[in-house]
Amino acid sequence: MNIIVADHYEALSKEAAKIIEEQLQTKLGSVLGLATGSTPLGLYEELIQGHRERDVSYKHVHTLNLDEYVGLDKHHPQSYHVFMNKRLFNHINIPLKQTHIPSGDASSLLDECKRYELVIDEVGPPDIQVLGIGQNGHIGFNEPGSSFAGITHITELAHSTREANARFFSSPEDVPTHAITMGIKSILKSKHILLLASGAKKAAAIQRLLTGEANEAFPASALYGHPNVTLIVDKEAYKEM
Ligand code: GLP
Repeated sequence: MNIIVADHYEALSKEAAKIIEEQLQTKLGSVLGLATGSTPLGLYEELIQGHRERDVSYKHVHTLNLDEYVGLDKHHPQSYHVFMNKRLFNHINIPLKQTHIPSGDASSLLDECKRYELVIDEVGPPDIQVLGIGQNGHIGFNEPGSSFAGITHITELAHSTREANARFFSSPEDVPTHAITMGIKSILKSKHILLLASGAKKAAAIQRLLTGEANEAFPASALYGHPNVTLIVDKEAYKEM
């Protein structure tokens, strides 16, 4: 695992954007695996700036998002569809048909999981997959105990994950109980994984990631099995080292 320790969140976001923009220069039709949550927001702002100021183009890029809440339609303000449109897609020149996010309100969620796995195989694998990490080590919405052999599936969110994400909803009870997420096996298909972690709340998870062993109780440890992972962490998240 390559480790980049950035001084602060802004520097972390710039480092991540640099790696992504280099990838886009290397291959016109690059495939980007994208994540939601607070951590990649600075990266997305940098990418928007790169598009506006340095003409970085997304015309031929395809994106694959990790996950979506079950039960929220794509216009729900807290859906990851709205998140991605608002935070990135509406501000760059990517054709929306080249962006892919699982549907959390499909009439058959099982069929949606199968469909999305086919999309990953057709469009992907991502040249770069951006990942955040939950305080309990979750990646995407693969909670502790998720199989490392898992593909796209429906998952029940851990209580701590619902609590952590309650800040985005008007009340904690509004946080969906389930999500549709790429499985760990699907995530590991990516050619290069960019794991971002910022802030003291992530320090324990990062310490565990860097000192532990591969174990399904700690989903991020599945990354030990991947040959090309870059961890970009700020000093706050790295401080217990
Ligand atoms: C969310 C997302 C993950 C994200 C993680 C951390 O629930 N499903 O993809 O990486 O939790 O979120 P944050 O970056 O807000 O700490």
